[in-house]
Amino acid sequence: MRIVLVGPPGAGKGTQAQFLAKNLSIPHISTGDLFRANISQGTPLGLEAQKYIKAGDLVPDEVTIGMVKDRLARPDAQEGFLLDGFPRNIAQAQVLDAMLTELGGGLDAVLDLEVPEDEVVKRIAGRRTCRKDSSHTFHVVYTPSKVEDVCDVCGGELYQREDDSEDTVRKRLEVYHNLTEPLVGYYEKQGLLVTVPALGKVDEVTARAMDALRSKK
Ligand code: AP5
Ligand code: ZN
Repeated sequence: MRIVLVGPPGAGKGTQAQFLAKNLSIPHISTGDLFRANISQGTPLGLEAQKYIKAGDLVPDEVTIGMVKDRLARPDAQEGFLLDGFPRNIAQAQVLDAMLTELGGGLDAVLDLEVPEDEVVKRIAGRRTCRKDSSHTFHVVYTPSKVEDVCDVCGGELYQREDDSEDTVRKRLEVYHNLTEPLVGYYEKQGLLVTVPALGKVDEVTARAMDALRSKK
C-alpha cells in the first residue's frame, strides 16, 4: 500500500508509523527523521534544513522534494510506503501526485490523526528523542523508557528536540494550520482520506488505524 500520514505536530505520526509500517511490511519514510539524520551527519542538506527546522518553518520545497524523490527511488519503496511528514503543503502534494502518476499508480489512503491541540502540546512537552535515531521516541509520562534518558531500542541518549521548545511549537502549529491542514480537503476530494481519532493508548490508536486502512485496500 502507498499511504500518507497527516496530523498536527506531536499527534503521534512517528509513533503510529512504526507499528503500521511493520504490520503492512512497507518502509516508514519520515521527512523529519531524514532531515535529523542529515543534520547529525553534518551534510550540506542537513545544514540547509537546520535553520528552518529550528525556527519551526517548513524547509523549502526544492530541498524537501529532492530528498523525497531520492528516497522513493530506492528498491524498498517500490512495493509501497508509509510517508510521514510529506507532503506538508499543496505544492508538495501536487508533486507527489505527478511522481506517482509517472510510476503508474497513486496513493491508496491518507490517514489523518486527529488530536486536540491541548493534547499535542502535552505530548510534545514530554517527548524525548533518541540522538542515534530520531524515530525512537518516548514520553516521560505516557511511554517512558526503562532507564531515564536512555533509549530502550538502541541505548542512545534521549534528549528534548530543539524545535520542541514552547515558542517553536507554537510556530509549528501555526504553520500546520496555514499550510498543511488544507491537505485534508485536497485528499478528501480524491476519496483517499480516512480520519482516525488519535486519543487513547498507542495500541488502541494503531488498531483503529489498521481498521480504517482495511476499508481502503
Ligand atoms: P517532523 O519531525 O515531521 O515533525 P512534526 O510533523 O511536527 O511531527 P512530530 O515529530 O513533532 O510529531 P509526531 O506526530 O511524529 O509525534 P510522535 O509520534 O513523536 O518535522 C520536523 C520539522 O522538519 C518540521 O517542523 C519542518 O521544519 C521540517 N519538515 C519535515 N517534513 C517537511 C516537509 N515535508 N516539508 C518541509 N519541511 C519539513 O509523538 C509525540 C509524543 O507523544 C511522543 O513523546 C510519543 O511518545 C507520545 N505519544 C504518541 N502517541 C501517544 C499516545 N497515543 N498516547 C500518549 N502519548 C503518545
Ligand atoms: Zn535509539
